[in-house]
Amino acid sequence: MKIGIIGGGQLGRMFIQNGLNYGLEFHVLDPDPEAPCSQIAHQFVCADRNDAEAVYNLGKDCDVVTIEIENVSIEGLKRLEADGIKVYPQPHILEMIRDKGLQKQFYRDNNLPTADFALVENKVEVQEHLHLLPVMQKMRVGGYDGKGVTPLKSKDHLSDAFDAPSVLESWVEDALELAVLVSRNADGEIKSFPVVELVFNPEANLVDYLVSPARIGVEVESQARQLAEDLIAKMEMVGLLAVELFVDKTGKVLINEIAPRPHNSGHHTIEACFTSQYDQHLRSILNWPLGNTVLRTAAAMINLLGEKGFEGPAFYDGMDHAIAETGVFPHIYGKALTKPHRKMGHVTVLDNTAEDALVKAQRVKEMLKVVSKV
Ligand SMILES: Nc1ncnc2c1ncn2[C@@H]1O[C@H](COP(=O)(O)OP(=O)(O)OP(=O)(O)O)[C@@H](O)[C@H]1O
Ligand SMILES: [Mg+2]
Repeated sequence: MKIGIIGGGQLGRMFIQNGLNYGLEFHVLDPDPEAPCSQIAHQFVCADRNDAEAVYNLGKDCDVVTIEIENVSIEGLKRLEADGIKVYPQPHILEMIRDKGLQKQFYRDNNLPTADFALVENKVEVQEHLHLLPVMQKMRVGGYDGKGVTPLKSKDHLSDAFDAPSVLESWVEDALELAVLVSRNADGEIKSFPVVELVFNPEANLVDYLVSPARIGVEVESQARQLAEDLIAKMEMVGLLAVELFVDKTGKVLINEIAPRPHNSGHHTIEACFTSQYDQHLRSILNWPLGNTVLRTAAAMINLLGEKGFEGPAFYDGMDHAIAETGVFPHIYGKALTKPHRKMGHVTVLDNTAEDALVKAQRVKEMLKVVSKV
Protein backbone atom coordinates (compact mmCIF):
# COMPACT_ATOMS: atom_id res chain seq x y z
CA MET A 1 0.00 0.00 0.00
CA LYS A 2 1.10 3.51 -0.83
CA ILE A 3 0.59 6.31 1.66
CA GLY A 4 0.96 9.96 0.70
CA ILE A 5 1.98 12.53 3.31
CA ILE A 6 1.71 16.27 2.75
CA GLY A 7 4.49 17.80 4.85
CA GLY A 8 7.93 16.32 5.45
CA GLY A 9 8.84 17.35 9.01
CA GLN A 10 9.68 15.30 12.09
CA LEU A 11 6.09 14.19 12.69
CA GLY A 12 6.00 12.68 9.21
CA ARG A 13 9.37 11.10 9.77
CA MET A 14 8.31 9.32 12.98
CA PHE A 15 5.09 8.26 11.25
CA ILE A 16 7.11 6.68 8.43
CA GLN A 17 9.56 5.05 10.88
CA ASN A 18 6.63 3.17 12.41
CA GLY A 19 4.91 2.43 9.11
CA LEU A 20 8.03 0.81 7.66
CA ASN A 21 7.46 -2.03 10.14
CA TYR A 22 4.34 -2.97 8.17
CA GLY A 23 6.09 -2.90 4.80
CA LEU A 24 4.19 0.17 3.61
CA GLU A 25 5.41 2.67 1.03
CA PHE A 26 5.56 6.43 1.74
CA HIS A 27 5.39 9.33 -0.70
CA VAL A 28 6.07 12.75 0.76
CA LEU A 29 5.72 16.35 -0.41
CA ASP A 30 7.60 19.23 1.24
CA PRO A 31 9.30 22.40 -0.03
CA ASP A 32 12.54 21.79 1.89
CA PRO A 33 14.87 19.37 0.06
CA GLU A 34 16.48 18.52 3.41
CA ALA A 35 13.22 18.06 5.35
CA PRO A 36 13.39 15.25 7.98
CA CYS A 37 11.31 12.88 5.78
CA SER A 38 13.59 13.31 2.75
CA GLN A 39 16.08 10.82 4.18
CA ILE A 40 13.61 7.95 4.62
CA ALA A 41 10.65 8.41 2.22
CA HIS A 42 10.31 6.09 -0.80
CA GLN A 43 9.54 9.12 -2.94
CA PHE A 44 10.18 12.72 -1.92
CA VAL A 45 8.69 15.53 -4.00
CA CYS A 46 9.98 19.04 -3.45
CA ALA A 47 7.04 21.39 -3.85
CA ASP A 48 4.98 24.01 -2.07
CA ARG A 49 2.46 22.35 0.28
CA ASN A 50 -0.10 24.92 -0.82
CA ASP A 51 0.31 24.09 -4.51
CA ALA A 52 -3.00 22.32 -5.27
CA GLU A 53 -1.67 20.70 -8.45
CA ALA A 54 1.44 19.34 -6.70
CA VAL A 55 -0.63 17.98 -3.79
CA TYR A 56 -3.04 16.34 -6.22
CA ASN A 57 -0.20 14.79 -8.23
CA LEU A 58 1.46 13.37 -5.13
CA GLY A 59 -1.76 11.78 -3.92
CA LYS A 60 -3.40 10.52 -7.09
CA ASP A 61 -1.55 7.19 -7.13
CA CYS A 62 -1.73 6.64 -3.37
CA ASP A 63 -4.21 4.48 -1.46
CA VAL A 64 -4.50 6.94 1.42
CA VAL A 65 -3.30 10.52 1.78
CA THR A 66 -2.63 12.18 5.13
CA ILE A 67 -0.94 15.32 6.45
CA GLU A 68 1.65 16.08 9.13
CA ILE A 69 1.05 19.85 9.20
CA GLU A 70 -2.21 21.78 8.79
CA ASN A 71 -0.90 24.39 6.36
CA VAL A 72 -1.48 22.48 3.10
CA SER A 73 -3.61 22.93 -0.03
CA ILE A 74 -7.15 21.99 0.99
CA GLU A 75 -8.14 22.41 -2.66
CA GLY A 76 -5.64 19.74 -3.72
CA LEU A 77 -6.90 17.38 -0.99
CA LYS A 78 -10.53 17.99 -1.97
CA ARG A 79 -9.74 17.08 -5.58
CA LEU A 80 -8.20 13.82 -4.41
CA GLU A 81 -11.24 13.09 -2.25
CA ALA A 82 -13.54 13.82 -5.21
CA ASP A 83 -11.54 11.25 -7.23
CA GLY A 84 -12.29 8.61 -4.60
CA ILE A 85 -8.92 8.64 -2.85
CA LYS A 86 -9.12 8.32 0.92
CA VAL A 87 -7.93 11.55 2.50
CA TYR A 88 -7.64 11.52 6.31
CA PRO A 89 -8.15 13.72 8.23
CA GLN A 90 -10.98 14.75 5.89
CA PRO A 91 -10.26 18.05 4.06
CA HIS A 92 -13.40 19.81 5.35
CA ILE A 93 -12.27 19.07 8.91
CA LEU A 94 -8.81 20.46 8.19
CA GLU A 95 -10.46 23.57 6.82
CA MET A 96 -12.42 24.04 10.03
CA ILE A 97 -9.46 23.38 12.34
CA ARG A 98 -7.08 25.63 10.44
CA ASP A 99 -9.25 28.62 11.35
CA LYS A 100 -9.27 29.13 15.13
CA GLY A 101 -12.50 31.13 14.75
CA LEU A 102 -14.35 28.22 13.11
CA GLN A 103 -12.84 25.86 15.69
CA LYS A 104 -14.20 27.90 18.59
CA GLN A 105 -17.57 28.21 16.87
CA PHE A 106 -17.69 24.41 16.46
CA TYR A 107 -17.20 23.94 20.21
CA ARG A 108 -19.90 26.49 20.97
CA ASP A 109 -22.37 24.98 18.48
CA ASN A 110 -21.81 21.49 19.88
CA ASN A 111 -21.95 22.43 23.57
CA LEU A 112 -18.33 21.45 24.10
CA PRO A 113 -16.77 23.40 27.00
CA THR A 114 -14.31 26.11 25.94
CA ALA A 115 -13.36 29.58 27.22
CA ASP A 116 -15.78 32.38 26.22
CA PHE A 117 -14.77 34.27 23.08
CA ALA A 118 -15.62 36.85 20.44
CA LEU A 119 -14.46 37.11 16.84
CA VAL A 120 -12.99 40.34 15.45
CA GLU A 121 -11.87 41.35 11.97
CA ASN A 122 -9.22 43.88 12.96
CA LYS A 123 -7.61 45.90 15.74
CA VAL A 124 -10.35 48.55 15.81
CA GLU A 125 -13.03 45.95 16.56
CA VAL A 126 -11.14 44.85 19.67
CA GLN A 127 -12.47 48.05 21.29
CA GLU A 128 -16.02 46.65 21.11
CA HIS A 129 -15.17 43.71 23.38
CA LEU A 130 -13.45 45.34 26.33
CA HIS A 131 -15.84 43.53 28.71
CA LEU A 132 -14.00 40.28 27.85
CA LEU A 133 -10.62 41.58 29.13
CA PRO A 134 -8.20 40.09 30.06
CA VAL A 135 -8.05 38.01 26.89
CA MET A 136 -5.65 36.03 24.76
CA GLN A 137 -5.90 37.30 21.20
CA LYS A 138 -5.32 34.56 18.62
CA MET A 139 -4.97 35.09 14.90
CA ARG A 140 -7.59 32.97 13.17
CA VAL A 141 -5.10 31.55 10.67
CA GLY A 142 -1.36 31.18 10.35
CA GLY A 143 -0.31 30.94 14.03
CA TYR A 144 1.83 28.09 15.38
CA ASP A 145 4.10 27.40 18.35
CA GLY A 146 2.78 30.42 20.22
CA LYS A 147 3.39 32.82 17.31
CA GLY A 148 0.06 34.37 16.49
CA VAL A 149 -1.17 34.60 20.08
CA THR A 150 -0.78 37.70 22.23
CA PRO A 151 -2.10 38.51 25.71
CA LEU A 152 -4.22 41.65 26.09
CA LYS A 153 -4.37 41.95 29.85
CA SER A 154 -5.98 45.37 30.14
CA LYS A 155 -6.93 48.47 28.14
CA ASP A 156 -3.31 49.63 28.42
CA HIS A 157 -2.18 46.72 26.26
CA LEU A 158 -4.48 47.29 23.31
CA SER A 159 -1.66 48.73 21.21
CA ASP A 160 -0.16 45.21 21.19
CA ALA A 161 -3.26 43.83 19.47
CA PHE A 162 -2.92 42.09 16.09
CA ASP A 163 -4.60 43.94 13.25
CA ALA A 164 -5.99 40.76 11.71
CA PRO A 165 -9.06 38.51 11.87
CA SER A 166 -8.74 36.93 15.27
CA VAL A 167 -10.35 35.31 18.28
CA LEU A 168 -10.51 37.18 21.60
CA GLU A 169 -10.57 34.48 24.21
CA SER A 170 -11.24 35.00 27.92
CA TRP A 171 -8.11 34.52 29.97
CA VAL A 172 -8.08 31.23 31.87
CA GLU A 173 -6.32 32.19 35.11
CA ASP A 174 -3.65 29.80 36.43
CA ALA A 175 -4.73 27.12 34.02
CA LEU A 176 -3.24 23.68 34.23
CA GLU A 177 -2.50 22.56 30.67
CA LEU A 178 -3.21 19.02 29.58
CA ALA A 179 -3.37 17.17 26.29
CA VAL A 180 -5.26 14.08 25.22
CA LEU A 181 -4.55 12.16 22.05
CA VAL A 182 -7.60 10.44 20.68
CA SER A 183 -8.22 8.63 17.45
CA ARG A 184 -11.04 7.26 15.37
CA ASN A 185 -11.09 4.90 12.41
CA ALA A 186 -13.61 4.84 9.56
CA ASP A 187 -15.68 2.17 11.35
CA GLY A 188 -16.15 4.68 14.19
CA GLU A 189 -13.96 2.92 16.75
CA ILE A 190 -12.55 5.52 19.18
CA LYS A 191 -9.67 5.27 21.68
CA SER A 192 -7.96 7.93 23.78
CA PHE A 193 -4.51 7.85 25.42
CA PRO A 194 -3.84 8.57 29.09
CA VAL A 195 -3.72 12.32 29.82
CA VAL A 196 -0.47 14.22 29.34
CA GLU A 197 0.53 17.23 31.44
CA LEU A 198 2.32 20.07 29.64
CA VAL A 199 4.77 22.53 31.11
CA PHE A 200 5.82 25.52 29.02
CA ASN A 201 9.07 27.41 28.63
CA PRO A 202 7.91 31.01 29.07
CA GLU A 203 10.74 32.46 27.01
CA ALA A 204 10.33 30.30 23.89
CA ASN A 205 6.61 29.63 24.48
CA LEU A 206 7.23 26.00 23.54
CA VAL A 207 6.56 22.94 25.64
CA ASP A 208 9.44 22.63 28.09
CA TYR A 209 8.57 19.12 29.16
CA LEU A 210 5.56 16.91 29.38
CA VAL A 211 4.74 14.04 31.61
CA SER A 212 2.31 11.15 31.58
CA PRO A 213 0.44 10.07 33.61
CA ALA A 214 -0.60 13.66 34.37
CA ARG A 215 -0.53 14.50 38.08
CA ILE A 216 -4.29 14.95 38.32
CA GLY A 217 -7.15 13.14 40.01
CA VAL A 218 -9.23 10.39 38.42
CA GLU A 219 -12.16 12.79 37.99
CA VAL A 220 -10.21 15.28 35.82
CA GLU A 221 -8.52 12.38 33.97
CA SER A 222 -11.85 10.88 32.97
CA GLN A 223 -13.43 14.27 32.18
CA ALA A 224 -10.53 15.11 29.86
CA ARG A 225 -10.56 11.77 28.03
CA GLN A 226 -14.33 11.75 27.71
CA LEU A 227 -14.27 15.26 26.28
CA ALA A 228 -11.67 14.29 23.66
CA GLU A 229 -13.69 11.19 22.72
CA ASP A 230 -16.93 13.19 22.43
CA LEU A 231 -15.19 15.79 20.31
CA ILE A 232 -13.75 13.37 17.74
CA ALA A 233 -17.10 11.54 17.60
CA LYS A 234 -18.96 14.79 16.91
CA MET A 235 -16.44 15.76 14.23
CA GLU A 236 -16.62 12.28 12.69
CA MET A 237 -12.94 12.72 11.99
CA VAL A 238 -10.79 9.80 10.85
CA GLY A 239 -7.21 9.85 12.14
CA LEU A 240 -5.41 10.98 15.26
CA LEU A 241 -6.49 14.18 17.00
CA ALA A 242 -4.47 16.03 19.64
CA VAL A 243 -6.72 17.92 22.04
CA GLU A 244 -5.08 20.67 24.11
CA LEU A 245 -7.02 21.37 27.30
CA PHE A 246 -7.09 23.79 30.20
CA VAL A 247 -8.24 22.92 33.70
CA ASP A 248 -9.50 26.10 35.34
CA LYS A 249 -9.35 26.92 39.04
CA THR A 250 -12.72 25.24 39.67
CA GLY A 251 -11.48 21.96 38.15
CA LYS A 252 -13.48 22.33 34.96
CA VAL A 253 -11.90 21.01 31.77
CA LEU A 254 -12.01 23.35 28.74
CA ILE A 255 -10.88 22.75 25.18
CA ASN A 256 -8.07 25.10 24.15
CA GLU A 257 -7.34 23.98 20.61
CA ILE A 258 -6.91 20.87 18.53
CA ALA A 259 -4.47 19.52 15.96
CA PRO A 260 -5.62 16.75 13.58
CA ARG A 261 -2.35 14.81 13.46
CA PRO A 262 0.37 13.31 15.64
CA HIS A 263 1.52 15.93 18.11
CA ASN A 264 4.42 16.99 20.26
CA SER A 265 2.45 15.89 23.32
CA GLY A 266 2.37 12.28 22.10
CA HIS A 267 6.03 11.59 21.41
CA HIS A 268 6.46 9.60 24.62
CA THR A 269 3.91 7.03 23.39
CA ILE A 270 6.62 5.54 21.14
CA GLU A 271 8.36 3.97 24.12
CA ALA A 272 5.80 4.33 26.92
CA CYS A 273 2.63 2.82 25.40
CA PHE A 274 1.75 -0.46 23.73
CA THR A 275 0.65 1.56 20.72
CA SER A 276 2.36 4.81 19.73
CA GLN A 277 0.47 7.86 18.46
CA TYR A 278 2.03 7.23 15.05
CA ASP A 279 0.85 3.63 14.99
CA GLN A 280 -2.62 4.69 16.12
CA HIS A 281 -2.82 7.32 13.36
CA LEU A 282 -1.85 4.69 10.82
CA ARG A 283 -4.39 2.20 12.17
CA SER A 284 -7.06 4.92 12.05
CA ILE A 285 -6.47 6.00 8.45
CA LEU A 286 -6.20 2.41 7.20
CA ASN A 287 -9.33 1.42 9.16
CA TRP A 288 -7.41 -1.21 11.08
CA PRO A 289 -8.37 -2.11 14.67
CA LEU A 290 -7.10 0.58 17.05
CA GLY A 291 -4.32 -0.46 19.42
CA ASN A 292 -4.23 -0.62 23.22
CA THR A 293 -3.30 2.84 24.59
CA VAL A 294 -2.31 1.82 28.12
CA LEU A 295 0.87 3.38 29.51
CA ARG A 296 3.36 0.62 30.22
CA THR A 297 5.42 2.95 32.40
CA ALA A 298 5.53 6.63 33.36
CA ALA A 299 7.28 8.92 30.91
CA ALA A 300 8.56 12.45 30.56
CA MET A 301 9.56 14.17 27.35
CA ILE A 302 11.82 17.12 26.67
CA ASN A 303 12.22 18.94 23.39
CA LEU A 304 15.74 19.41 22.17
CA LEU A 305 15.76 23.05 21.14
CA GLY A 306 18.67 24.86 19.57
CA GLU A 307 20.61 26.72 22.28
CA LYS A 308 20.69 30.49 22.19
CA GLY A 309 23.83 31.89 20.61
CA PHE A 310 24.44 28.94 18.26
CA GLU A 311 23.62 28.80 14.59
CA GLY A 312 25.05 26.30 12.11
CA PRO A 313 25.69 22.54 11.81
CA ALA A 314 24.15 20.86 14.83
CA PHE A 315 26.13 19.07 17.51
CA TYR A 316 24.50 17.29 20.44
CA ASP A 317 26.75 18.06 23.36
CA GLY A 318 26.41 15.66 26.31
CA MET A 319 24.67 12.87 24.40
CA ASP A 320 27.18 10.32 25.73
CA HIS A 321 26.26 11.16 29.33
CA ALA A 322 22.52 11.25 28.60
CA ILE A 323 22.32 7.81 27.01
CA ALA A 324 24.45 6.27 29.76
CA GLU A 325 21.32 6.59 31.95
CA THR A 326 18.67 3.87 31.93
CA GLY A 327 15.48 4.59 30.01
CA VAL A 328 16.67 7.58 28.00
CA PHE A 329 15.57 7.61 24.36
CA PRO A 330 16.84 10.38 22.09
CA HIS A 331 15.09 11.14 18.80
CA ILE A 332 17.13 13.39 16.52
CA TYR A 333 15.07 14.72 13.63
CA GLY A 334 17.83 14.89 11.02
CA LYS A 335 17.86 18.68 10.61
CA ALA A 336 21.38 19.68 9.59
CA LEU A 337 21.37 23.22 10.94
CA THR A 338 20.53 24.43 14.43
CA LYS A 339 19.35 27.90 15.40
CA PRO A 340 18.00 29.31 18.68
CA HIS A 341 14.78 27.54 19.79
CA ARG A 342 14.56 25.38 16.64
CA LYS A 343 13.05 21.96 17.46
CA MET A 344 15.96 19.63 16.66
CA GLY A 345 14.76 16.52 18.43
CA HIS A 346 13.27 15.23 21.65
CA VAL A 347 14.19 12.82 24.42
CA THR A 348 11.75 10.50 26.13
CA VAL A 349 12.64 9.36 29.61
CA LEU A 350 10.97 6.37 31.25
CA ASP A 351 10.78 5.69 34.95
CA ASN A 352 8.49 4.10 37.55
CA THR A 353 6.51 7.23 38.42
CA ALA A 354 5.79 10.58 36.82
CA GLU A 355 7.89 12.31 39.49
CA ASP A 356 10.89 10.04 38.92
CA ALA A 357 10.62 10.49 35.16
CA LEU A 358 10.50 14.28 35.56
CA VAL A 359 13.55 14.38 37.80
CA LYS A 360 15.48 12.29 35.30
CA ALA A 361 14.23 14.40 32.39
CA GLN A 362 15.40 17.57 34.10
CA ARG A 363 18.82 15.99 34.60
CA VAL A 364 18.98 15.01 30.93
CA LYS A 365 17.91 18.52 29.93
CA GLU A 366 20.82 19.98 31.84
CA MET A 367 23.40 17.61 30.36
CA LEU A 368 22.26 17.63 26.73
CA LYS A 369 22.58 20.79 24.63
CA VAL A 370 22.10 21.44 20.92
CA VAL A 371 25.02 23.63 19.89
CA SER A 372 27.13 24.24 16.83
CA LYS A 373 30.88 23.80 16.60
CA VAL A 374 31.37 26.64 14.14
N1 LIG B 1 -7.43 31.72 27.03
C1 LIG B 1 -6.20 31.55 27.51
N2 LIG B 1 -5.91 31.84 28.80
C2 LIG B 1 -4.68 31.69 29.29
N3 LIG B 1 -3.63 31.24 28.58
C3 LIG B 1 -3.83 30.92 27.29
C4 LIG B 1 -5.12 31.06 26.68
N4 LIG B 1 -5.04 30.65 25.40
C5 LIG B 1 -3.76 30.30 25.20
N5 LIG B 1 -3.01 30.44 26.31
C6 LIG B 1 -1.57 30.13 26.47
O1 LIG B 1 -0.90 30.31 25.22
C7 LIG B 1 -0.41 29.07 24.72
C8 LIG B 1 -0.52 29.01 23.21
O2 LIG B 1 -1.89 29.13 22.83
P1 LIG B 1 -2.49 28.22 21.67
O3 LIG B 1 -2.28 26.80 22.04
O4 LIG B 1 -3.88 28.64 21.40
O5 LIG B 1 -1.60 28.72 20.47
P2 LIG B 1 -0.64 28.03 19.39
O6 LIG B 1 0.23 29.09 18.87
O7 LIG B 1 -1.46 27.30 18.43
O8 LIG B 1 0.20 27.07 20.25
P3 LIG B 1 1.03 25.77 19.92
O9 LIG B 1 1.28 25.67 18.47
O10 LIG B 1 2.26 26.01 20.74
O11 LIG B 1 0.18 24.69 20.49
C9 LIG B 1 -1.25 28.03 25.45
O12 LIG B 1 -0.60 26.79 25.51
C10 LIG B 1 -1.39 28.68 26.83
O13 LIG B 1 -0.21 28.55 27.58
MG1 LIG C 1 -1.44 25.20 21.46
